[in-house]
Amino acid sequence: MLIKTPLASAERECDITPEAVYLSRRHFMAAAGGAMALGVLPAQADATRYAHVEPGSMPGWFAEKLTAVRWQAVTAGEEALTPYPDVTHYNNFYEFGTNKGDPARHAGKLEVEPWSVMIDGEVAKPGPVSLEQLVQPHRLEERIYRLRCVEAWSMVIPWLGFPLAELLKRAEPTGNARFVRFETKVAPEQMAGVRSGFSLIDWPYVEGLRMDEAMHPLAIMAVGLYGRVLPNQNGAPLRLVVPWKYGFKSIKSIVRISLVAEQPKTTWESLAPDEYGFYANVNPGVDHPRWSQATERRLPNSLFSPNVIDTRLFNGYDEVASLYAGLDLRKHY
Ligand code: MTE
Repeated sequence: MLIKTPLASAERECDITPEAVYLSRRHFMAAAGGAMALGVLPAQADATRYAHVEPGSMPGWFAEKLTAVRWQAVTAGEEALTPYPDVTHYNNFYEFGTNKGDPARHAGKLEVEPWSVMIDGEVAKPGPVSLEQLVQPHRLEERIYRLRCVEAWSMVIPWLGFPLAELLKRAEPTGNARFVRFETKVAPEQMAGVRSGFSLIDWPYVEGLRMDEAMHPLAIMAVGLYGRVLPNQNGAPLRLVVPWKYGFKSIKSIVRISLVAEQPKTTWESLAPDEYGFYANVNPGVDHPRWSQATERRLPNSLFSPNVIDTRLFNGYDEVASLYAGLDLRKHY
């Protein structure tokens, strides 16, 4: 199990990130005008890896949460973080367009305050809950995870979030709850991709997990990254992160969480069932019909530095393997 509480002597960011990357991010921060321009930065310095950055403006609920973050609760070992500019400017968020730069360009229009999430279905405690109420009881943890997109690129991202299991337990699932279904907000007036007549997606974007997958400690609800509140293009104010599955399972800007008895119909599976399955576990042994899944481009990369690495089963998160004992992963891709 990778989850651990770091010791006071835990390595700092500059120890796990190559110096060039670390310095280039500092340079980026300075160029962008410091903390205020980039938004939120952690206030408490000593135990964090962001000691060099002044705190900036942030929503009150997030500022409160930052005072007790469990930093580096999970790390990606020696792997370098993907720089902040890449994490926030190379995105998939089809509600704002299909090009990688569209979400950063257009997601600013998404109104994230106030935000409310409906929790319903097979639970003893259904009902709408404000974002503040939803996050309030949970201690935020920094989870440094690999994100492997089904398109064969990958990143390493320091998320801030809390275990999905904790949230689900609060709703008190009934014995009939076998799956969790998630839904993204639909706001055509704020979302150019939803308004577009060319989109093949039947909005809202829907994702789902089996109950035992959802309860696994590695599955988190994220509200931040890089010590800041989640940028809109990355799924503000609340998104799922399931690091052993292809990125499309990690649904953004969630407004509804339903516990259900039947396996939900998910967006990509409905669109192209031969290409995208419900499970979508990262698996180098099962190719996409149109490309290999054996390797991935770790961002940032370039023509001269392609940075191609081997893809690992379950994206390297071996501790989830027991969830799939006896399941044919070729059939249930
Ligand atoms: N969630 C919604 N609502 N809409 C989307 O288009 N794209 C998915 C996932 N979540 C998507 C989404 C895909 S394909 C990936 S790879 C990840 O978000 C990308 O997350 P990132 O942009 O934060 O890296």
